[in-house]
Amino acid sequence: MQKLQQLYAGKAKSVFATDDQDYVVLSFRDDTSAFDGERIEQLSRKGEVNNKFNAFIMEQLGKAGIPTHFEKLLNANEALVKNMKMIPVECVVRNVASGSLVRRLGVEDGMELNPPVFEFFLKNDALHDPMVNEFHIATFGWATDEQVQRMKALTFEVNQVLKKLFADAGMILVDYKLEFGVFKGEIYLGDEFSPDGCRLWDAETRKKLDKDRFRQGLGGVIEAYEEVAQRIGVPL
Ligand code: C5P
Repeated sequence: MQKLQQLYAGKAKSVFATDDQDYVVLSFRDDTSAFDGERIEQLSRKGEVNNKFNAFIMEQLGKAGIPTHFEKLLNANEALVKNMKMIPVECVVRNVASGSLVRRLGVEDGMELNPPVFEFFLKNDALHDPMVNEFHIATFGWATDEQVQRMKALTFEVNQVLKKLFADAGMILVDYKLEFGVFKGEIYLGDEFSPDGCRLWDAETRKKLDKDRFRQGLGGVIEAYEEVAQRIGVPL
């Protein structure tokens, strides 16, 4: 498999073509962004930690029967994934209230959400990723109804698998964001799952072990990511 030209550069990852049009290389950079890309910093080792973290999680999800784009790790910073057409909505599940939910609804940070809350957001930095619903998705043609139902079902299946995986390692999966794409007509989980796109708290101390450490200037960002990785058994 030969890595060819860059196709796309996002805020933290870049995508490269390969000599097989079914696959692309996902390259995890050290760039760390917050507030829709308004703040970007380099955090040493982040690309490598997130690449290996994501590979481990995608493999666990795959074993649990969730279709993912992940094929294999290529090196410290790169993975081979299916070349999908991405659906431009983010799927968020919240087990505990935090972040934008608290700001929007004035509920207490840390409140347990039972049943968990599901939200869609439009992937659009210029518009600050506004919350959208199934009607917007249908009307503007971002996905079919069938794809919407599939993304929702898969996002909740991921919750079952990962809530337990993190709980077994003494952590609370507060919330997370997933993105999906279409490959040969089927929906697959895409993008990444890492502490950049979820909230994880230590179950005892409620210490934040995710990107909120960067957003809130708490320091020890990569050290926290590495701690999570070590606790769930990611080989770093
Ligand atoms: O900011 P908010 O509370 O809506 O975020 C919910 C979850 O989705 C958090 O885990 C956050 O890290 C993640 N998220 C993300 N990318 C975005 C927006 C949110 O990974 N663009």
